[in-house]
Amino acid sequence: MAKPHKFKDLKGVLRPDFTWGYATAATQVEGGWNADGEGPSIWDTFAHTPGKVKDGSTPDDAVLSYYKYKEDVALMKSYGVTAYRFSLSWSRIIPLGGKEDPINEAGLEYYQNLVDELIENEITPFVTLFHWDTPQALEDRYGGMLDKENGTDTPDFVNYARVCFERLGDRVKHWITYNEPGVYTLAGYAAGVHAPARSSNRKLNDEGDSSTEPFIVGHTELVSHAYAVQLYREKFQPHQKGMIGITLHGNWSEPWDEENPSDQEAAERAREFEIAWYANPVYKTGDYPASMRAQLGDRLPRFTPEESKLVLGSSDFYGMNSYTSFFVKHLETPPDINDHSANIEKLETNKQGVSRGPESDTYWLCTSPWGFRKLLNWIWNEKVLNDTFRIEFFEGYIAAIGSALKEDGVDVRSYFAWTFTDNWEWAAGYTDRFGVTFVDFESKEKKRYPKKSASVIRELFQHMIKKE
Ligand code: BGC
Repeated sequence: MAKPHKFKDLKGVLRPDFTWGYATAATQVEGGWNADGEGPSIWDTFAHTPGKVKDGSTPDDAVLSYYKYKEDVALMKSYGVTAYRFSLSWSRIIPLGGKEDPINEAGLEYYQNLVDELIENEITPFVTLFHWDTPQALEDRYGGMLDKENGTDTPDFVNYARVCFERLGDRVKHWITYNEPGVYTLAGYAAGVHAPARSSNRKLNDEGDSSTEPFIVGHTELVSHAYAVQLYREKFQPHQKGMIGITLHGNWSEPWDEENPSDQEAAERAREFEIAWYANPVYKTGDYPASMRAQLGDRLPRFTPEESKLVLGSSDFYGMNSYTSFFVKHLETPPDINDHSANIEKLETNKQGVSRGPESDTYWLCTSPWGFRKLLNWIWNEKVLNDTFRIEFFEGYIAAIGSALKEDGVDVRSYFAWTFTDNWEWAAGYTDRFGVTFVDFESKEKKRYPKKSASVIRELFQHMIKKE
């Protein structure tokens, strides 16, 4: 008798068109760092500075995918993938990076060939525009992503995005603007251990200010992401018919003492500082989380009303990279000015001594699928099912019935909320959602998930209707 499958209960649970494959980044795999006119990126500068990389190596050759892409695609195909996520090197396409700077046709040709090769092999390309490799020329010109004041970085990024949409968008239908903007800022500008190597730690970095720069750079990333998305949606999406979004990083933060409200709050705060820093503006409110504003004050930039409107809703999907989980304990001391993790302590075990998971050779990485599942739920519930706007709408309207009745003598006897489930919204099709129940329109069975508004409305009517 055949041995039952290790995961026999999970047979067939993923939808038929579920996409899977491997993700890479240009700097980490391509090599050919100055081949055919590619300009240097901040990672070339970083790696060529003695002492910056642990083993003294550089990505000059990396794994030579610039030359071996055909072989790589064949290998991936033999692995059975249906998609490949890779990033484009900005300075391979526009060596000096700027909107007035020349395009490097040879660089574009490489990506066109790679995309063609993937498609020929029935592997869907998912393309990331920015995986941390700012062109060195822009870093020298105006401080790269740090320069928000002159607004220079945004037009340059948007122009780079436009070139990519124009030249690859007929075949690429899945675009990611930024890969883990939070890692770029935290490692590059707070800890100073990644390019462009800036921080307040003068033993490590000659320049930088960990208390302000990460938040300025994060703001630039969000706003430039949103402008690139606006451009795609207005000028390319209607005929190219692809989707575009952002990919955030996020690990799970679990309270060290699950019974202790301070640790529960600390864990939520840690998730907000790590994930909602980017996710709230994009998916929820158009602004940073209140916990960050409370701790950081004016060190956290403010969105102009125009930016806020542009950033909110600027991703067609929720893209996430996640690796591990941490136990989180509240700190009694006031936060340090360079704190980026919400005034918490990260611990390897919880109060009962349970470890976060088996250790790996990478010091921060412990295998903790239990946390990954919680993270998936947190994002799903927070961002999709916690429909704060709808809750406020219905609370206001239902309370208005109460006041009209109680104070103005209006005789209202029934109320029907629009509407029960998300549905087909006339000329807007499936793009507007009015329901207190989320519907997965793409699933065959139109799967339903109650939103928070459904329980808020139930409780409000239970409270307001007089018991006989
Ligand atoms: C980053 C990669 C990196 C990996 C391991 C990922 O999420 O995007 O560039 O190599 O984490 O640190």
